[in-house]
Amino acid sequence: MRADSNVLFLVPFTLLFLIAIPQLCLCANSTSDHPMEERKALESLKGSFSNSSMFVSWEGNDHCQWKGVQCDAITGHVVKLVLHWQKTCSYRRIGFVRTCSTQNSNGVHPSILELRHLNYLELTGISFGNGPIPAFLASMNQLTHLNLSDCDFMGKVPNQLGNLSNLQVLDFSGNPLDVDDLAWLSKLSSLKHLAMKGVGLGGAYDLLQVLDTLPFLLQVEFCGCDLTNLNFPAGHTSTLATTISLHFQIGCLILMPLVGARSGNYSGCGKYDLEVLVLRGSGIKDSLPSWFGLLSNLNILDLAMNLFYGPIPSSFGNLMALTTLDLSDNQLHGSIPATFGRLSSLSLLDLSNNHLNGSIPESLGQLRNLVTLRMVNNSFTGIISEIHLRNLSNLIEFQIGYNNLDLKTDSNWEPPFKYLQVLGMAYNNLTHFPQWVQTLEQLSTLDISNNQISGNIPKHFGHHLPNLYRLNLRTNLIEGSIPDSLCKMENFVASNRLSGTIPNSFGNLTVGWLNLSNNSLHGEPFQPLQSNKWLQILDLGENQFTGKIPSWWAAIAVLEILRLRGNLFSGDIPTSLCQFYNVKILDLADNNLSGSIPPCIGDFRGMMIKGVEAPPAFTYNADEWAKRHFKQFLKGNEYDYTQKYAYPYLVNIDLSSNSLMGSILDDVTSLSGLIGFNLSHNHLSGKIPNNINKMQSLESLDFSNNTLSGPIPTDMSIIHNLGFLNLSYNNLSGSIPTNDHFLTSDNRSFAGNPHLCGGPLANKCSMKKTMITVIRKKRCCFT
Ligand SMILES: *[C@@H]1O[C@H](CO)[C@@H](O)[C@H](O)[C@H]1NC(C)=O
Ligand SMILES: *[C@@H]1O[C@H](CO)[C@@H](O)[C@H](O)[C@H]1NC(C)=O
Ligand SMILES: *[C@@H]1O[C@H](CO)[C@@H](O)[C@H](O)[C@H]1NC(C)=O
Ligand SMILES: *[C@@H]1O[C@H](CO)[C@@H](O)[C@H](O)[C@H]1NC(C)=O
Ligand SMILES: *[C@@H]1O[C@H](CO)[C@@H](O)[C@H](O)[C@H]1NC(C)=O
Ligand SMILES: *[C@@H]1O[C@H](CO)[C@@H](O)[C@H](O)[C@H]1NC(C)=O
Ligand SMILES: *[C@@H]1O[C@H](CO)[C@@H](O)[C@H](O)[C@H]1NC(C)=O
Ligand SMILES: *[C@@H]1O[C@H](CO)[C@@H](O)[C@H](O)[C@H]1NC(C)=O
Ligand SMILES: *[C@@H]1O[C@H](CO)[C@@H](O)[C@H](O)[C@H]1NC(C)=O
Ligand SMILES: *[C@@H]1O[C@H](CO)[C@@H](O)[C@H](O)[C@H]1NC(C)=O
Ligand SMILES: *[C@@H]1O[C@H](CO)[C@@H](O)[C@H](O)[C@H]1NC(C)=O
Ligand SMILES: *[C@@H]1O[C@H](CO)[C@@H](O)[C@H](O)[C@H]1NC(C)=O
Repeated sequence: MRADSNVLFLVPFTLLFLIAIPQLCLCANSTSDHPMEERKALESLKGSFSNSSMFVSWEGNDHCQWKGVQCDAITGHVVKLVLHWQKTCSYRRIGFVRTCSTQNSNGVHPSILELRHLNYLELTGISFGNGPIPAFLASMNQLTHLNLSDCDFMGKVPNQLGNLSNLQVLDFSGNPLDVDDLAWLSKLSSLKHLAMKGVGLGGAYDLLQVLDTLPFLLQVEFCGCDLTNLNFPAGHTSTLATTISLHFQIGCLILMPLVGARSGNYSGCGKYDLEVLVLRGSGIKDSLPSWFGLLSNLNILDLAMNLFYGPIPSSFGNLMALTTLDLSDNQLHGSIPATFGRLSSLSLLDLSNNHLNGSIPESLGQLRNLVTLRMVNNSFTGIISEIHLRNLSNLIEFQIGYNNLDLKTDSNWEPPFKYLQVLGMAYNNLTHFPQWVQTLEQLSTLDISNNQISGNIPKHFGHHLPNLYRLNLRTNLIEGSIPDSLCKMENFVASNRLSGTIPNSFGNLTVGWLNLSNNSLHGEPFQPLQSNKWLQILDLGENQFTGKIPSWWAAIAVLEILRLRGNLFSGDIPTSLCQFYNVKILDLADNNLSGSIPPCIGDFRGMMIKGVEAPPAFTYNADEWAKRHFKQFLKGNEYDYTQKYAYPYLVNIDLSSNSLMGSILDDVTSLSGLIGFNLSHNHLSGKIPNNINKMQSLESLDFSNNTLSGPIPTDMSIIHNLGFLNLSYNNLSGSIPTNDHFLTSDNRSFAGNPHLCGGPLANKCSMKKTMITVIRKKRCCFT
C-alpha cells in the first residue's frame, strides 16, 4: 500500500518542483498547493500515530498555530515541522526492568510529501517501527534541514536521498542504521553539518574521500560509529598538502553553524576551517596523522576511546585554537611533545589511559587557561616541580594518578591554582606530604593513596580545608596520630603506620565508611564511635585495639560490614551485636574472644537472603568500590571482592582463631544466604548441627581445629555450592557421606579425626574393619 502511494505523490511533486523554485512560489494558488491541502496532510500524519498525546495542540482551524508547525508569514505555507518526542524511561529496581514512554507510528506517513514548501523537517525521538528510512523523502528536494535522530530507523540508507541536494543539516544519529555505500552522501553538495552518531559505518571505507567532496562541510559528528575500517593517510611531508586537501577541504559559508560564526565574510578563510572534530569511541586503529596539526582552527579535538597508537605528533602543538584536546583511552606511546606549551587556549587536556612515558614537559606550566588536566594511568616518570605548575591559575581538576611521578616543591610554595577542587595523585612515587594542599580552600577531593609518603598528617589539615569531603591517604608510610580535624570528611587512612587512639571527634563523622585497618592504633575504639549512626562499613582490623565489645554498642542499624579482625579484643561476643541485623560480613577473627557463640546470630536478617536475589542495598556504586579494595578470606584464601564487583553478594561470618567455646547451635542454620562460614581454631565442642543443609548458599565452610564430635550429618552432602570444606582436627566419627561432592573432597578436609572413615581417607569403613580397628585399639591399650 505504502509503495503505491509513494509513486502517486512523487510524480506530480517532481514536476511541480521544477517550476516552483525558479518562480519563487508565484504559483502558490494552484489548487493542490492550497494551505487546506497542507492541513489535511498534517492531519493524516497525526492519524498515523497510535498515541496522539504529542498532538494535543493540533486542534482548531489554523494549523499554523499547532505545536511544531511553522508557516511562512507571507505565503502561509508550512515551512517547518518539528515533532520531537522526549522519551522518558524509568527503571524498576527489582528486576531492572526499563520502561519508556514512546510515540509510535508504523512509518512516516507519505502525506508529508504534500508539504511542498517544507524546508525544515525534524522528526526526533519517535519510534517509526524499525523500518528503513523511506525512500520517498528523496523527493523533498526543497529540504535544507533534515533531522531524524533517535527514530528507530534500521537497515540501509536509501541511495535516493542523494537527491536532497539542498540539505545543509543532516542528522541520522541514534538510529541502528548500517551505511557502507556512501554514494548518496557524496551528492549532498550543500551539506554543512552532518551528524551520524551511533550509525554503523564499519563498511564505509571511503568516508573521508566522500567527506572531502562536500565543499561546505563544517561540522561532522561521528561518535560510536565503528570507524574500524577508516584509513587515515600517513601524512608524509611530501604528500601532506594533497593529503589534507583530499580529506578536509573545508570552505567558508554564510550562516556557519559553529561557534564564532564569521557570517558572510569569505575573506581570511583558509582551507582548514574545521573547528570541531569528534571521533570519540569509533574503533579507529591507526597512528595519529601529523597533518591534523594543520587544522589550525580546531577548537575541539576529541579522539578519545579509540585504538590510536604511536606517538603524539609534535605538530599538535600548532593547534593554537584548541580549547579541548581529549586523547584519553587509546594506545599512545612516547612522551608529551614539548610543543604542547603553545596550546595557550587549552582548557581541557586529557591524556589518561595510554602508554605515554617520559617526563612531563615544563612547558605545560604555561597553559594558563587550563581548567582540567588529566594524565591518569600512563608511565610518566620524573619530578613535577613548581615550574610545571607555575601559570596554571585556572586549574580546577588535576589528575595524575597511576604513574611514577614524584612531586617536589619549595616547602613554602603557594600554588597558583587557588580554585582547585580535585587533586588525584594516587599510585605514584610521592615521598612527602604535599603541605601546599592546605592552601586550597576549594579542594573537595584529595587522593594521594598508594604512594610512599612518610611523616605526619598536619594537625590542622581539616580545618584549613573546609570543603574537603573525600580524603584518601591509604597505603602510605604515614606515622603519628590521626588529627581531630579529619572528622568532617570521608577519610581513608588504612594501611599506614598511624598510632594513638581514635580521636573523640570521630563521633561526629557522618560518613558511611570508616576504614582504619592495618595501622598501629590502640585503645578502646567503641567509646569514640558510639554516636556514629551512619556507618555502613566499619573496618578496624589489623590494629592493636583492646577491650571488650561493649553490650551498649548496637545502635547502628545500617551497618553492613563489621571487621574487627586481627586485634586484641577480649571477652564475650555480646548478644547485643545481633542487633546489627543488616550485617552481611561479620569478621571478628584473630582476637582473644571467649565464651560461646550467641544463638541470636541466627537472626542476622542480612544473611538470610542470598546476595543475588537481594536488592542492591549499598549506596556506594560499583565505581567507588572498584577504587577501594576489599579483601576477605574464603575457601582458605584471601580474595579481593572489590575487584570482582562481587562485594554486595558476599555474605560471610568469620570468627576463627579466637577462644570460643560451647557448641554450634541449630539457630545458625537459618542463615540461608551465608556464603562463607569460618569457626576454625576455637574450642568449640558438640555436634555439627543436623540441619546444616538448610544453609544452601554455603560455598566455604571451615570448622577445623575445634573439638567437634559425633557424625557428619548425611544431608550435608546436598549443599550444592560447597566447594571448600574443612572439618580437619576435630573429634568427628562415623563415615563420610558418599556423594558426588564429598567424593571430590581432599583428604585434608577430614584429617585429624581418628574416628572418621570412608570418603577420601585411607581409613575405609567396612563394618568389620571398624570393629577390628576398635578391637586393635583396645588391645593396644592394654599392652
Ligand atoms: C493568487 O491568488 C491571489 C488572491 O487569492 C491573487 O491576488 C494572486 O494574483 C494569485 N496569484 C496567481 C499567480 O495566480
Ligand atoms: C500515550 O502516551 C502518554 C505519554 O507517554 C501516556 O501517558 C498515555 O498513556 C498513552 N496513551 C495510550 C493510549 O497509549
Ligand atoms: C532524483 O532525481 C532524479 C533527477 O534529478 C530523478 O530522476 C529521480 O526521480 C529522483 N528520485 C527521487 C526518488 O526523487
Ligand atoms: C536533531 O534533533 C535533536 C533532538 O531535538 C537535537 O538534539 C540535535 O541537536 C539535532 N541535530 C542537529 C544537527 O541539529
Ligand atoms: C572579514 O574578515 C577579515 C579577516 O578576518 C577582516 O579583516 C574583514 O574586516 C572582515 N570583513 C567584514 C566585512 O567583516
Ligand atoms: C590503563 O590504561 C591502559 C591502556 O590504555 C588500559 O588498558 C587499562 O585498562 C587502564 N587501566 C585502568 C585502571 O583504567
Ligand atoms: C618510552 O617508551 C618507548 C617505547 O614506547 C621507549 O623506546 C622509550 O625509551 C621510553 N622512554 C622513556 C623515557 O622511558
Ligand atoms: C607565568 O607566571 C610567571 C610568574 O610565576 C609570570 O612572570 C609570567 O608572566 C606568567 N606567564 C604567563 C604566560 O602568564
Ligand atoms: C616508583 O614506584 C614504583 C613502585 O613502588 C617503583 O617500581 C618504581 O621504580 C618507582 N619509580 C621511580 C622513578 O622511582
Ligand atoms: C561534635 O560536634 C558538636 C557540634 O558541632 C560539637 O559541639 C562537639 O564538640 C563535637 N564533638 C567532638 C568530640 O568533637
Ligand atoms: C580497608 O582498607 C584495607 C587496606 O587498604 C583493605 O585491605 C580492606 O579490605 C579495607 N576494608 C574494607 C571493609 O573495605
Ligand atoms: C590448632 O590450633 C592451635 C592453636 O591455634 C595450634 O596450636 C594447633 O597446632 C592447631 N592444630 C592443628 C592440628 O592445626
